[in-house]
Amino acid sequence: MSDSEFPLVQFMRDGFDPAAELSRIRTEHPVFPMEIPGGQTVYLVTRWDDVRGVLGDHERFSNDFAGVIGLGSNQEDPGGLGFRDPPEHTRLRKYLTPEFTMRRLRRLEPRIEAMVEEYLDRMEAKGSPVDLMEEFALPIPSLVVCELLGVPYEDRADFVKLSTDRFDFTAGPEASLQAINDAMTYLTDLVARERRNPGDGLLGQLLREHGDELDDRTLASMADGLLTGGHDTSTSMLALGTLWLLENPEQAAKVREVDGYVNDVVEELLRYMTVVQVAFPRFAREDLELHGHQIKKGELVLCSLAAANRDPNLGEDMDEVRPGRATAGSHLAFGHGIHRCIGAPLAQMEMRIAFRALLRRFPDLHVAGEIPWRKLAIVYGVEKLPVAW
Ligand code: HEM
Repeated sequence: MSDSEFPLVQFMRDGFDPAAELSRIRTEHPVFPMEIPGGQTVYLVTRWDDVRGVLGDHERFSNDFAGVIGLGSNQEDPGGLGFRDPPEHTRLRKYLTPEFTMRRLRRLEPRIEAMVEEYLDRMEAKGSPVDLMEEFALPIPSLVVCELLGVPYEDRADFVKLSTDRFDFTAGPEASLQAINDAMTYLTDLVARERRNPGDGLLGQLLREHGDELDDRTLASMADGLLTGGHDTSTSMLALGTLWLLENPEQAAKVREVDGYVNDVVEELLRYMTVVQVAFPRFAREDLELHGHQIKKGELVLCSLAAANRDPNLGEDMDEVRPGRATAGSHLAFGHGIHRCIGAPLAQMEMRIAFRALLRRFPDLHVAGEIPWRKLAIVYGVEKLPVAW
């Protein structure tokens, strides 16, 4: 089979599993050249140690294509950490790091718990059956970002609508673009309000501590970057994780009944689902060699996190979910190196609270219809999750 027959294999799934071809590629071609339209070659990397090597090597691999080919960095989007290199990446990330410490997150925990309960009340009041995406998996991550940023209560319904519209890919690209513009308008206005009267959320903190160094647009973009990074990813994990738990009732029972078991389940489900299927594109900063392939300066390397996290070198039966298992190395569902997900501890906390509360509230929750899986998405997930109780 020729290389070019697989240009999309890294985005394909079969239910929870990456496409079978991807495992074959991982075994036979640790670096897999694929020709993309326009005749360029993209190199797909699939093994755990190679993916870790590329993501951990920002000296040889850049996230900023314009910078690599000498066009200058894109200063228009200061919030997009994933597309920036040091020193600019280091400068911007440094502002955000203190907001994700365990101390700050512990302050958020009771608020997230209360909000999850409130949404479960609403779902219960609405009555069985419901689409769990609409009632739970979509709004919760958006509300978590509201808590993090400090979006005022009276704005939250509108903010949730803006952020869910943006990730509702069924409504078409125009609706999504409109929602992106509206979110930036809202966030810029919120930053201006917070500058006059800083609250206790992330924006208020940043304005208090670094208000002179950060202009409103930069702050609004940083907030937008957190929304973009934290929303669709967490939604997909909530939906796929719930689906797996409903298909494995003995595991769901253990999550409900055994304190702390949910931690192991969340970690293993993050690995197993790897909802962010590929890392941000990496570009070779110089001509280099990878497993015998000559990669030229500016060429694109794609790291398949989904393939890497199922690599048999990590342990036995990596295509199975075994909470609490020991592996030869940490999973890469949040990436690795300087771009490793800044929101990881928040996402883990959110998953732990949400899975446990949901399963405890509805002990007989079950799937009640066909599951429409996403096709060819960078962030894998489902379109709907019909459930009943
Ligand atoms: C289950 C949920 C999540 C998953 C699976 C996830 C996954 C990832 C991955 C794989 C990367 C880095 C990829 C790379 O190196 O190319 C990343 C980066 C990032 N994530 Fe997350 N994420 C999640 C939740 C969140 C949350 C809740 C936030 C914020 C509230 C967030 C904000 C970000 C940001 C800002 C970056 C860019 C970091 C940088 O480039 O320095 N993510 N995420």
